[in-house]
Amino acid sequence: MDFFEIGTFHYMNNKLYCEHKAVEEIIEEVGTPAYIYSKKHFADQYRTFDEAFKDVKHAIFFAAKANFNLNVLKTFADLGAGIDVNSAGELYRAMKIGVDPSRIILSGVGKTAAEIKLALEHNIKLIKAESFEELLLINKVAGEANTVAHVALRINPNVDPKTHPYISTGLAENKFGIDASEAENVYLEGLKLENVMLTGLDMHIGSQITTIAPYAEAIGKMAELFKKIKSKGVPLQHFDVGGGMGVRYKNENLFLPSDLAEAVKDVLKDLNCEIMFEPGRYLTANGGILVAEVLYTKKNREKNFIIVDASMTELIRPSLYSAYHHVQPIKLTSRKDIKADIVGPVCESGDFLAKNRTIQECVQGDKLAVMTAGAYGMVMSSNYNGRRRPPEVLVDGDKFYVIRSRESFEHMLWDEELIK
Ligand code: LLP
Repeated sequence: MDFFEIGTFHYMNNKLYCEHKAVEEIIEEVGTPAYIYSKKHFADQYRTFDEAFKDVKHAIFFAAKANFNLNVLKTFADLGAGIDVNSAGELYRAMKIGVDPSRIILSGVGKTAAEIKLALEHNIKLIKAESFEELLLINKVAGEANTVAHVALRINPNVDPKTHPYISTGLAENKFGIDASEAENVYLEGLKLENVMLTGLDMHIGSQITTIAPYAEAIGKMAELFKKIKSKGVPLQHFDVGGGMGVRYKNENLFLPSDLAEAVKDVLKDLNCEIMFEPGRYLTANGGILVAEVLYTKKNREKNFIIVDASMTELIRPSLYSAYHHVQPIKLTSRKDIKADIVGPVCESGDFLAKNRTIQECVQGDKLAVMTAGAYGMVMSSNYNGRRRPPEVLVDGDKFYVIRSRESFEHMLWDEELIK
């Protein structure tokens, strides 16, 4: 069995550690399933990204959708990041950690009037608009609030990011952004609106992108557009590259932030404005694992199954995108390898964490770590089958903090009432 060591997750004396803490010790206290995050990995990733673009005037906005635990948001805010939020709920979270609203930006393909109003009340840095109708609504809501909204238009550059179709966003067939051929018109129409100021141009072509070429192509196209729009009198001050940088789940060949910077920095510098980034996965994915306990093992005429106490309700990525996550024991033994499906207790055939995986033979009570679970893990969890959300733990050196407790039954029912 191959095992995966990445970031601060490593084996010492055959035991999996997060930073200086044995995962086993954490699990003894919090039980399974549970998410465990490494603060150091988050900080290392942030600094690597920030450092790569040091020659470009830039700002990093952590995409809260990747992992919105308050303590994770706070970790990035303390490092100097802003927060990219996608809804009123994420805005509420960002406000809760006390980050200055001038470091919050609001994204999203279908924002409601109430969300726009809330963003204006908090006086955040920027609201994105993804259609002309949305721009009109922002103008109306800002007018009612007697204010002028700073807006960036998200333009769809029609570039193939070569990633999973469900997480590709920058193709003309995707719902996101304003078609590049419409952009100039929308900007010029926008100039006539009294309660919006069009200060930015935004793109985001997709997620888990593993090659530089799609970025270079999209940035090139959008930079030309930026200059053209600016020359027509639109007061553009920021160019937002979005997020999307891929991470290692398996054996992907990846580029580094410094490689990306090298490839695009001249084009970006030439724009003479603030360059914004919205990484999510790059900052958190390999800083998190989901730990599960083996409940049963069984064999039928086709396969071996390892049934664990985590499922698609804790981590939906394998079921939803057939995503690969490495799964490995938190204690390595000399038992032989077998091939097995690692599955959860949920009543769906699509409920699996790994298929046909070579793994050391397991016995009841073993604990398995599902790796690379720090992005789009807990945030996509659900209560399906009446399952309670797992706790989240943040490790810092040799200490750990329970940053979200396991959901209780009362918790799950607090907003339901029987009709009297
Ligand atoms: N900015 C915008 C406007 C976005 O829509 C996204 C992600 C990001 C930034 C951050 O992208 P990242 O750096 O994390 O790739 N649930 C899927 C990923 C969906 C990504 C949605 N948008 C998954 O588990 O793979």
